[in-house]
Amino acid sequence: MAHNENPGTLAVEYADKHPKEILARAFELEPNIAISFSGAEDVVLIDLARKVSKDLQVFTLDTGRLHPETYRFIDQVREHYDLAIDVLSPDAEKLEAYVKAKGLYDFYKSDHHECCGIRKIEPLRRKLATLNAWITGQRKDQSPSTRNDVAVFEQDSSFTGADNALLKVNPLANWTSAQVWEYIRMFDVPYNPLHDQGYISIGCEPCTRPVNPGQHEREGRWWWEEATAKECGLHKGNSSSQD
Ligand code: ADX
Ligand code: SF4
Repeated sequence: MAHNENPGTLAVEYADKHPKEILARAFELEPNIAISFSGAEDVVLIDLARKVSKDLQVFTLDTGRLHPETYRFIDQVREHYDLAIDVLSPDAEKLEAYVKAKGLYDFYKSDHHECCGIRKIEPLRRKLATLNAWITGQRKDQSPSTRNDVAVFEQDSSFTGADNALLKVNPLANWTSAQVWEYIRMFDVPYNPLHDQGYISIGCEPCTRPVNPGQHEREGRWWWEEATAKECGLHKGNSSSQD
């Protein structure tokens, strides 16, 4: 990290601040910072960040298994905000070997970790190794069992950055889903059309399904697995505190 601020101290200082102020501070602290965009309602991060910085780095992990709607939406966001989104692919050799050995739907038989490891974690690790900080759309209310302790600023305990230590910024940690949607409506932010079809949390197509009213959003992800295991490894720090 280029700065000398303690992420724990920043987290306390910024816990109740608006996401825009958190983003402004993050850009000031670490110019080599990028937004990790999933193609879902975390588009609000891009809209907010655009208001505080002209020079945004945004990347998305293209697992090869996203919904067609999500691919189109990522491109829509690219055009709407005039952004060169960095679309990251898995290592072809590793992916081909895995699919050849285990098939395209192995995650239903074993669990999602090997597939997520190849399609998401490895490309993420490669990208983070070039940065000093990253910004995610994680929120506490997305998963009471694993995300309750997400802080607005934290030291990433799972990945390393270009200068080793890596700052992780979660500007929406304390926002509720209702606040995110209020922002989307108020500022006419483009959003993934799957949200109008009952999807709340959106990941890969085979591992995401719509939820019924009253069901928690996380129940639509990896529904065949235990609730406490529903972290794919992008935010490993969250689940390791559960183990
Ligand atoms: S996940 O770990 O279960 O897949 P989730 O869908 O809740 O994560 O999204 C939380 C945050 O993780 C997103 O706001 C985004 O910052 C990051 N993220 C998740 N999936 C991706 C992706 N495919 N590409 C880039 N970032 C992602
Ligand atoms: Fe594979 Fe499903 Fe993980 Fe996507 S969410 S990388 S398809 S296991």
